Amino acid sequence: MQIRDIQPLNVIQLPIGKIRIQKKFSSKRNKVFLCSIRGKLNAENAILKQYVIGNPKREYEILKMLRKNGLNVPQPYFYNKKYAIMDYIPGVLLSDLVEADNMSWVEKIVDWFILFHSTMRREGTPFIKSDVNLRNFLFFNDEFYGIDFEDLSVGQPASDIGGLAAHILTNNPRFTQSKQKAVDMLIKHYCKINHDVLQSEVNKCLWRELVKIAARRPDERQEILGYCFFHQRKWTS
Ligand SMILES: Nc1ncnc2c1ncn2[C@@H]1O[C@H](COP(=O)(O)OP(=O)(O)O)[C@@H](O)[C@H]1O
Ligand SMILES: [Mg+2]
Repeated sequence: MQIRDIQPLNVIQLPIGKIRIQKKFSSKRNKVFLCSIRGKLNAENAILKQYVIGNPKREYEILKMLRKNGLNVPQPYFYNKKYAIMDYIPGVLLSDLVEADNMSWVEKIVDWFILFHSTMRREGTPFIKSDVNLRNFLFFNDEFYGIDFEDLSVGQPASDIGGLAAHILTNNPRFTQSKQKAVDMLIKHYCKINHDVLQSEVNKCLWRELVKIAARRPDERQEILGYCFFHQRKWTS
């Protein structure tokens, strides 16, 4: 069933119950809805994710494994070939926090990544999150929750932290003093806890991710590349 078929009705029937759609979230790739469920599972608020290209089973299994290891991620309830259903986390997106005067969020996102990377190491899978878009992290009850694990792939933890730093710096308004301070704190704090990762490695990844972001955003390209050029020696030596 196409989502345009279900939109006028706003209701779909799945084996776990009747799903009533309440709102659509802004999303990059997939279609993500806030919904309520009545049936085998009852929930006032849950998330229905309709996969456009991704694999619901893979994300369901990753969420289960991460929760088993104590990571803050939504509890998954159901998947089929097209949809997954999981807990709704009623938090604030990291994209809405990064310009706040209070920077206590920096240590909290580091806490989340430290546990995430050490879990991956322990599980024997050198996977990183890869998609470190700021809309993939929700702050709730004084802790971060990670969402959207479709892009999990083999890589170096430095790449997640450098990538996150690049997304913070290029979040509008870009390159503010408070964002530069937050990124500085983020990298120092992460490397202080995870001794396997050097600040110089993270800086290189930050630089690489900024160049990639510049390639994707023509309107911001000149400004982002200018910033990279200005910091080139510090980051890539
Ligand atoms: N479990 C959840 N709890 C609360 N909001 C969510 C949850 N999952 C997704 N969202 C919202 O939907 C948006 C898109 O979800 P995401 O899984 O990142 O989809 P995409 O793969 O399209 O990027 C998120 O940025 C967030 O606002
Ligand atoms: Mg996402």
